[in-house]
Amino acid sequence: MKAFVYGGPGRMAVEDRPKPEVRAPGDAIVKMVQTTICGTDLHILKGDVATCSPGRVLGHEGVGVVDSVGAGVSNFRPGDRVLISCISSCGRCDYCRRGMFSHCTTGGWILGNEIDGTQAEYVRTPHADTSLYPIPAGADEEALVMLSDVLPTGFECGVLNGKVAPGSTVAIVGSGPIGLATLLGAQLYSPAEIIVIDRDDSRLEVARQFGATHTINSEVGTAAETVMTLTAGRGVDTVIEAVGVPATFSLCQDLVGPGGIIANIGVHGQKVDLHLERLWSRNIAITTRLVDTVSTPMLLKTVQAKKIDHKRLITHRFELARILEAYDTFGRAASTRALKVIITA
Ligand SMILES: NC(=O)c1ccc[n+]([C@@H]2O[C@H](COP(=O)([O-])OP(=O)(O)OC[C@H]3O[C@@H](n4cnc5c(N)ncnc54)[C@H](O)[C@@H]3O)[C@@H](O)[C@H]2O)c1
Ligand SMILES: [Zn+2]
Ligand SMILES: [Zn+2]
Repeated sequence: MKAFVYGGPGRMAVEDRPKPEVRAPGDAIVKMVQTTICGTDLHILKGDVATCSPGRVLGHEGVGVVDSVGAGVSNFRPGDRVLISCISSCGRCDYCRRGMFSHCTTGGWILGNEIDGTQAEYVRTPHADTSLYPIPAGADEEALVMLSDVLPTGFECGVLNGKVAPGSTVAIVGSGPIGLATLLGAQLYSPAEIIVIDRDDSRLEVARQFGATHTINSEVGTAAETVMTLTAGRGVDTVIEAVGVPATFSLCQDLVGPGGIIANIGVHGQKVDLHLERLWSRNIAITTRLVDTVSTPMLLKTVQAKKIDHKRLITHRFELARILEAYDTFGRAASTRALKVIITA
């Protein structure tokens, strides 16, 4: 089969690989139908993710058809159409029973990281019963690819951890696919204001189309002052960091109002300063989270009921044979205006 393989920092190739086989009773082999590229895949290609070794097939998102299952799989049969979660969970360990699937002792974020992933014709998915979801009848499968990672990430790490509430004020720093997915999820709770901040005007324009009440280009250098003006000098109730660099986490600390929450989503590769000398008295909270994908069943119902228009995140489509072109397009998002690129296997 064809597979997209990480070859070490800055190196990637489409290679011929043997079709994966069931190794453990809980495994399923899924024939990929559609997958996509995540900002985290770009982190891997830069060499930022130590757990991902050269030779790894990348990809942790997608939809497909079950090809075969191990003897211990009871929820799925060959031919079933499934959504693949970016997080594998056994459903039984201590962490899984607390709903913290991201820290499953035999799972977590392993696909396309510690084991071969979904940017291939077939993928082996461990703990299939609790890591795959049946695709509802009549669903738009391509759009469901947004439920493998981006929608649950924005919703759990941003909206839920940030306690977005009716009438509240929200700032989202970062208007990439994750920031935009957070913007879509936040609107389920009817906050009064959602201010989106980025340094890319075309992404800010998309944020306005997706429901941001205000957008600010942070390159101007006055984002914090503008937010203070918009909130009568108070700062916002929920600040969501959706970039993952020191400058943006620092900005979040300038935007949070008394009693507010900074909900971090970004994957950080460098140390970041925490200004407790200013924040200690402001009754704030800071949260971090690796997506658990516990909200996936709920989000599936929400998108089926058309309460979230997640298909708008898809901007480009490629065949698997042209995945290098897909990476190039996604990697140059500022000029190509790419958000999520769909890759058809
Ligand atoms: N916590 C989790 O479980 C989880 C899951 C998935 C992704 N992530 C992380 O979320 C982050 C966002 O993902 P994405 O796919 O949207 O990434 P992306 O790179 O597509 O988008 C980042 C956005 O930030 C903007 N930006 C970059 N530097 C900036 C700066 N200094 N000031 C203002 N804006 C700036 C860019 O213009 C871009 O629009 C990444 O760090 C990704 O690894 C975390
Ligand atoms: Zn991801
Ligand atoms: Zn577990």
